[in-house]
Amino acid sequence: MTPKIIIDCDPGHDDAIAIMMAGRLTKILGITTVSGNAPLSLTTENALILTELLDLDVDVHAGANKPLMVAPRHAEEAHGRTGLDGPIRPEIKRTAASNDAVHFIIETVRSNDDVWLVPIGPLTNIALAVQQAPDIVDRVAGISIMGGSAGAGNVTATAEFNVWADPHAASIVFDAGFEKLLMAGLNLTHQFGVDEQVISDLRALGNQASLFAADLFDFYLAAYQKRTLGTRAPLHDPCAVLAITHPELFEFESRNVRVETTGTHTRGMTVVDERSWGPGPANCEVEYGIDRDQGITILLETLSAYS
Ligand code: RIB
Ligand code: CA
Repeated sequence: MTPKIIIDCDPGHDDAIAIMMAGRLTKILGITTVSGNAPLSLTTENALILTELLDLDVDVHAGANKPLMVAPRHAEEAHGRTGLDGPIRPEIKRTAASNDAVHFIIETVRSNDDVWLVPIGPLTNIALAVQQAPDIVDRVAGISIMGGSAGAGNVTATAEFNVWADPHAASIVFDAGFEKLLMAGLNLTHQFGVDEQVISDLRALGNQASLFAADLFDFYLAAYQKRTLGTRAPLHDPCAVLAITHPELFEFESRNVRVETTGTHTRGMTVVDERSWGPGPANCEVEYGIDRDQGITILLETLSAYS
């Protein structure tokens, strides 16, 4: 059965690809936006650009414009000033359906069975929703997060951007007691990279979505190579969608994961307990492996479905 999802995001180049894939692989009940890669006004505008470009009949609800406790931080070095640098920025007609993403998340989960939450930005909206309506934790089918890492960080040696940007929110979410919490951390997403060949294949598809994605990747790959000299740029956020739609691509391990909120050198670190005798029950299915080539094949097949 086609999964019903709410995407909570901060578009964001890789968020954009996640939305493109979810637009064909899932039933998107709504998109909520959060401050992250760019300020909320831009992540919301970017989400509207994407739903209009893809002709998705999906509302966008703006959410938190700052983290729960720490100062807002953005990622211009990876996504540019607009958060979606690269393609020519289209004029859009659409506007946000509301400025209350948290209310939308709560009401949608309460009025629909088997909804997946798919947060692929800082977890501020999800944490606020859980605090205001703890009942949604047991109502959802699950939550599939892009965030954290069972290895090195990216913003710091130990912390990944989404968790680092709002560690208090991430701690609330990881401790909330979700029965099915899937974690696509950097240790996984760095195995799912885009390169010049993928960009060329997207251009060959020749539809509006694939050409926009190719323009996004031209910027995203160049920005990544400038910073890291890597040949492939990690496609982080689509992993959170694929973990629901194509779980067979992944290797999962049950782990206990907690979030460090105050460490001098470790703020925002997801502390993944690798000890087999570790205390406490596992609260998370951590993704350790992905079939990258099959995932790229599914990416191209999915984007070819757009007119
Ligand atoms: O660390 C990668 C994550 O941070 C991705 O979700 C990317 O879009 C940024 O939000
Ligand atoms: Ca993101």
